[in-house]
Amino acid sequence: MSIKKLAFSGVQPTGNLHLGNYLGALTNFVSLQKEMECIFCVVDLHAITTFQNPKELKQNIFETTAAFLAIGLDENKNIIFNQSSVSGHAELAWILNCVSRIGWLNRMTQFKDKAGSDKEKASVGLYIYPNLMAADILLYKATHVPVGADQKQHLELCRDVAQKFNKDFKSENFFPIPEPLIQKNISRVMSLRDGTKKMSKSEESDYSRIDLKDSADEIVKKIKKAKTDSSPIPGQEKELEKRPEALNLLKIYADLKKTPIQKILSEMEGKEFSFLKNKLSDSLVATICPVGKKIKELIDDKAYLEQVLNKGREKALKKAEENLKKIREIVGLL
Ligand code: TYM
Repeated sequence: MSIKKLAFSGVQPTGNLHLGNYLGALTNFVSLQKEMECIFCVVDLHAITTFQNPKELKQNIFETTAAFLAIGLDENKNIIFNQSSVSGHAELAWILNCVSRIGWLNRMTQFKDKAGSDKEKASVGLYIYPNLMAADILLYKATHVPVGADQKQHLELCRDVAQKFNKDFKSENFFPIPEPLIQKNISRVMSLRDGTKKMSKSEESDYSRIDLKDSADEIVKKIKKAKTDSSPIPGQEKELEKRPEALNLLKIYADLKKTPIQKILSEMEGKEFSFLKNKLSDSLVATICPVGKKIKELIDDKAYLEQVLNKGREKALKKAEENLKKIREIVGLL
């Protein structure tokens, strides 16, 4: 029996969305909505694994919802909602905490990065975060998960948890084993200040990333200041192996232009990086500024955003409750 395709993905409401989120995940959401049923979730319970100012969190939940709509996700076709409004996420996370193994969580590199040098002081929530992410996906029996490359290890854990649940409870094929959908051309957008680090909301310097709400002037300034090296643009991609910043800018440009990087290199071989930077700024302004403008417009219409989230919640709740009923039976809960 073939199972119906269903995509699930989540974005944390922890501040400004950036170019990494956009190219690594959001553009994939937009194309996927044409191919299958999709659930897009503002994962507020994930956000609070590190302390969030309550007022800012609320605003960021609205802003992430606005970003989903601004990039072109259809609120009628897809389910758009915030995670904490469907309590099944927390309930299934607890059940999966009892399936998942400590050894598996100990291997998670994102926890090590986020917890920093003093792991004893990290929240327990941050440690078991991947189990909540598995619950998000499995609660809806999702088959596909569009994410950036940084989430790959979490997805592997989700697959292990699903397999162990099915085996422990002798419920073969109950949870589908979800497939990660990771962008081929640019799965990890790197910082504009350090090409070995991913572009991230938590990076201190504003100059390390392009935010979706940046003005044209800010984009131009950030690209002008982006780190490069003194060599000109090479003719072959393999010559960029030890030039992470140069490779990052070229990959971003190729992705925005929907052109293979080799073609860009053939056209620009021997030119200085200032030439690429001018073209890159133009492309970014043309792509990002309309999205930022739309986010700013939508964020002022809280009533509309609430209505979108409520409608999504109703639909998500129905699916979650159906699946949870079966999960409780399988586990032996009354
Ligand atoms: P989050 O909120 O950090 O990021 C949202 C999405 O953006 C992608 N991303 C990137 N892609 C490429 N380059 C980058 N520099 C970059 N930075 C972020 C992320 O891979 C992600 O797809 N744990 C998740 C949220 C989550 C989730 C889920 C995702 C919770 N439950 C269930 C999928 C399914 C996270 O923190 O994403």
